[in-house]
Amino acid sequence: MTNVTSPGEPIAFPAGFIWGAATAAYQIEGATDADGRGPSVWDTFSHTPGKVRGGDTGDVACDSYHRYREDADLLRSLGLSGYRFSISWPRIFPDGTGQVNQAGLDYYKELVNALGERGITAAATLFHWDLPQALQDRGGWASRETAFRLADYAGVVGEALGDRVKRWITVNEPLVVSHHGHRIGVHAPGLRDDAAAAAATHHLLLGHGLAAAALRAAVPAAGGAPEIGITLNLTPVRVAADLNGAADLNGAADLNGAAALLEQARLVADATHNGLFLEPLIFGRYPEHAPASLLPSDDLVLDGDMETIAAPLDFLGVNYYQPLHLRPGDPVNLRRGEEPPMPGIEGGVVQYDPEGMEHTPMGWLIDPEGLYELLLRVSKDAPGLPLYITENGCAAEDYVNPDGEVYDIERIKFLHLHLEAAARAIRDGASLAGYYVWSLLDNFEWAYGYQKRFGIVYVDFATQRRIPKASSAFYAGIARENAVPPLPDSWPA
Ligand code: FCB
Repeated sequence: MTNVTSPGEPIAFPAGFIWGAATAAYQIEGATDADGRGPSVWDTFSHTPGKVRGGDTGDVACDSYHRYREDADLLRSLGLSGYRFSISWPRIFPDGTGQVNQAGLDYYKELVNALGERGITAAATLFHWDLPQALQDRGGWASRETAFRLADYAGVVGEALGDRVKRWITVNEPLVVSHHGHRIGVHAPGLRDDAAAAAATHHLLLGHGLAAAALRAAVPAAGGAPEIGITLNLTPVRVAADLNGAADLNGAADLNGAAALLEQARLVADATHNGLFLEPLIFGRYPEHAPASLLPSDDLVLDGDMETIAAPLDFLGVNYYQPLHLRPGDPVNLRRGEEPPMPGIEGGVVQYDPEGMEHTPMGWLIDPEGLYELLLRVSKDAPGLPLYITENGCAAEDYVNPDGEVYDIERIKFLHLHLEAAARAIRDGASLAGYYVWSLLDNFEWAYGYQKRFGIVYVDFATQRRIPKASSAFYAGIARENAVPPLPDSWPA
């Protein structure tokens, strides 16, 4: 790996690069009963005992519903040019369908106006996991109807906000919705149903395509120019180079056979984690190597669906946290640091945590090289398609020190490493147009509740006081200079 600059020099980004921060409605807004909002699947899930650590819910969260001006001021004080937030679907359609709740639309108009007044461009996600409960009661994403309801909702918000939202993201991380929400049940709606997960995969993609079309009609009519994309969580898949455990690979008579099985596992894992959504969107087909159990049955894929899904995007949002590693092993007799792989990976292959690498408090690997690989891979699959990193960041063990400061050196290093990797990817041909750090604020981290802090701004949940962490000053400097400064020499490597 060659660095972009010599040590000690700042790493410059292209002119016009967007420096932003991201959040999501259920994670920050609170005010779940305010102004006619209906319940979402995450209200139901978080209020079900045992589903979220500590019994935490999004009822209050960061109270950003009421404090959005303060939060917009924070963005401005950091000099950020973009804010990625999500619109709460049950604020707009409390019953999932039928009557539109004007108060919900008005709230987002005010939010976007507050951003505009501060020179911050709005990037709105339509569906960041908070499906109206009423739609779940009618089958949720396992039902085709939900894709059409997303399109209705897209049309309504496109019309109301089309003149002031710059960038639209239809769906956030559909893989997490289908897998965590429908296959393994650790997210709302908490199902453990393979068929529902496979159906949800298709309906989320279809919903994206229909919503994109609805936005393309509504936004120009409202006086705006549609810039429409979707956000995927993408995961580079690595295989162990050392095949010492290869004897465990069922059916592999020798090391060459073991390498071939591992390569097969890599193709399947890549199709499962990346291709399942990327290929329909870019190529209009489900990936060849995806296990049949993950794919929608033929009767769910109607004529025209794949064309709707593959309609050209204006950009792709990429969320990157960590890569995934595979090695020979015994999935029913796991060793320390190993996990069973996703469904469809045959024989003696396990997922594992390589030794000697650093982790965040989420247990996630710190591996900026994965971001570099990913950006180049997507740029190769979809040449010229603008990419935004719509999420990247880390949890850290943040605390307020006796001077009232939060000195999150781990996060500064994390950002530095990942932005250096992003700059290298741009140099090597990736069409990266912006970066939104996850997250502006500490917030409700889904099944982990408030235990995991991802913000560049600390939130004291007892008082709702916001305390900008050291990383926010570091990030503000990057936004100001459009360049990443060298880390101080005194810092440990
Ligand atoms: C992503 C989610 C986001 C946040 C981060 C840590 O999967 O999109 O809401 O929780 O993980």
